[in-house]
Parts: sequence; structure tokens; C-alpha cells
Amino acid sequence: MTNKTLAIHQYFPDASRLILGTMNLGAWDESPITTEDINQAFDLVTEAIDLGINVIDLADIYTYGKSEKIIGELFKRERSLRHHLILQSKVGIKLPPINTSTKITKQYDLSADWICESVNNSIKRLHNQNLDILFLHRPDPLLELEPMMQALSTLHEQGKFEYLAVSNMHAGQIAWLQSATSIPIIANQLEMSLEKAGFVEDGITTNMSENKQYGFPRGTLEFSQQAGIQLQAWGALSQGLFGRDEVATDKLAYSEEKLRAINTTRELIQTLSKEYEVENNAIVLAWLLRHPSGIQPVLGTSKSSRLKALSQATNIQLSKEHWYAIFEASRGQEVP
Ligand SMILES: NC(=O)c1ccc[n+]([C@@H]2O[C@H](COP(=O)([O-])OP(=O)(O)OC[C@H]3O[C@@H](n4cnc5c(N)ncnc54)[C@H](OP(=O)(O)O)[C@@H]3O)[C@@H](O)[C@H]2O)c1
Repeated sequence: MTNKTLAIHQYFPDASRLILGTMNLGAWDESPITTEDINQAFDLVTEAIDLGINVIDLADIYTYGKSEKIIGELFKRERSLRHHLILQSKVGIKLPPINTSTKITKQYDLSADWICESVNNSIKRLHNQNLDILFLHRPDPLLELEPMMQALSTLHEQGKFEYLAVSNMHAGQIAWLQSATSIPIIANQLEMSLEKAGFVEDGITTNMSENKQYGFPRGTLEFSQQAGIQLQAWGALSQGLFGRDEVATDKLAYSEEKLRAINTTRELIQTLSKEYEVENNAIVLAWLLRHPSGIQPVLGTSKSSRLKALSQATNIQLSKEHWYAIFEASRGQEVP
């Protein structure tokens, strides 16, 4: 399982199957970063490296820049850490500042000026480390292709990043962007999980009245594989929906039918976790890893202990019978 060749291996032959997400490093508020934040991140990143996880997923907006800053503090503390990691960060979302009374609307921004400003700030926060992969976080409907590509090309020539990637984009958008640049677009990061299983569901209900079109971009899975674009899954654990001891309170608003399906799935996962001798969450992850497109899940945990348990998913391979049984339980009925 771990030896599977991934699309990203064309560019980074040693890239790990799992990716460490950083959206929860530091707090999503105005508070400054603390020594505790840095120590916690140090434990997490060193544990990741020990477990063979060497891709780290950042974004300019995560915890209002604090997440990148915390990782930068780690490089300051131990410079050699950088050599063990493939650094990917993102640009393209502009959050309203928290500390202002003026109403500023949240927006996507892939303008030349914002891309340059934001990428340079990310690099500064990362203690002057350039990026291996720069993601365009979300498609900005107002983006102007030529000036955007010019800005990216300048940053690329300056060595600020090596490869481009996109997030939350469909096949047509990727093809359009790639037509305007010679910098390879090497990955697409989308929400994919046992809960958000549109990437499977849409395909198996094609031409049927029950096709719900979950929002997963039709054809993108196939396009990415054909074009050698690495698929990365955010939200891969559905925030622990199936792995927690109890359903999280924010999910209790789901319909009775959906909650029933979640509970049936949780029970099945508990049974399988004993059979495969791994933690519940590792079974959830193994379900995603079993998909032949070679998805790289981005793990949002902030705890090194959970990371260790999750990494067990790469040591097992779910049988086809178990993969379908989990899928049937989570969709609440057998496949059509
Ligand atoms: N490209 C995009 O648009 C986009 C969007 C969102 C996220 N991302 C990336 O993807 C990463 C992961 O996303 P995510 O955080 O939404 O998804 P996730 O990995 O599904 O969820 C992580 C969260 O679930 C909690 N959790 C997991 N298992 C649990 C359990 N058994 N019991 C209790 N809590 C549990 C974790 O808490 P602990 O910290 O306690 O483990 C953490 O808060 C992010 O860090 C970021 O790098 C990208």
C-alpha cells in the first residue's frame, strides 16, 4: 500500500502517502503564538517525519498566518527540519481582518498584486523558506489570466516556488490555467472522504434518478488521473465523525436517517478496527486509500498521538468486501 506510485512522484519521488495539515496550528483569533503552540507543532512535525510523513500543507490564511509562522519558528529552532519536508502553501483567499470595525467582505483574490504580496509574506513567515508547491486555494471568478500568470512566472523565476497546484477546482479550470503557463500544475486538493463521498457516488449513479450531484466536480477524478495530477483530500477524517466515541454535537442536526447511517458505519468501523488491529480513524482513512486513484489525505490533527494512530492506515489494505460494506453503511443503502 505505502509503495504505491503516486502522480506526485514524477516531481517528488519521496513524497509520502499522507500529508500533515496545519489548519489548526495556533488559534483562530487575534492572540499571539505561544511557546506551547510551537512546542506542540514541534512534536507533531517531528512525529510526522519519524512516521515517514514528509509533505506539509499550509496556507497563508490558516490561523491568520500564525500556522505558517509557527512552522517558521520550528525552522528557526532546528534548521535541518526543512530538508526533511516538502512544503506546500496556498494563496487566493482574503479573509476580513478580525481586528477591525470596518466591514470588509470575504473574497477570493488571485490578482497579480495579491499573489505577490501574499506569497512573499508566507515565505517571510516561514523563516525565508521558499515553497515546493504553491496552491491556488480557490478559483477567483474575477481573476485575469494573463497578469496572474505573469505574477506567478516572476515568483517562479525568483525561485519562490517550484511547482503550481490548485484546490477546489474542476477539470475545465485546471486545463484552462495549465494552457496559460509552462509551470506544471501538479496537484488538486478537494474535499473527499467517507462522508463527502461524491467522488464515488456521482460516478456510480450516473444516468439514474437518484443521482444527487453532490458538488464534487464531475470528470475531475478521471481528468486528474489522465493528466498526472495528484489528488489530495482535505477533510479526509470528516473531523472524526466516524472515529470519535460519540457523534460531535455540531453533527446532531443531521436528519434521523443520516444519523442512523453514521451510527451503523461507526459500529462497522469499530468491528473492522479490531479485525485489522488499527484505530477506528485508520479504517476511515484506509477506505480513502483503497481507492485506486492514489489519493493523498491531508490530516488535520494537531496531536502527535493521533497522527501515529492514523499512520497505521498505510499498513493495511481493506478487502473489497469491507470497502463496499463501509460504503453501503455510510450511504444508508446498498449500491444501485
Ligand atoms: N484546500 C482547502 O480548501 C482546505 C480546506 C480545509 C482544510 N484543508 C487542509 O486539510 C487539513 C485537514 O482538514 P480538516 O481539519 O478539515 O479535516 P480532518 O482531518 O477531517 O479533521 C481534523 C479535525 O478532526 C479532529 N478529529 C479527528 N479525529 C478525531 C477523533 N477521533 N476524536 C476527536 N477529534 C477528532 C481533529 O482534532 P485533533 O486536533 O484533536 O486531532 C481535528 O480538529 C487542514 O489542516 C488543511 O491543511 C484544506
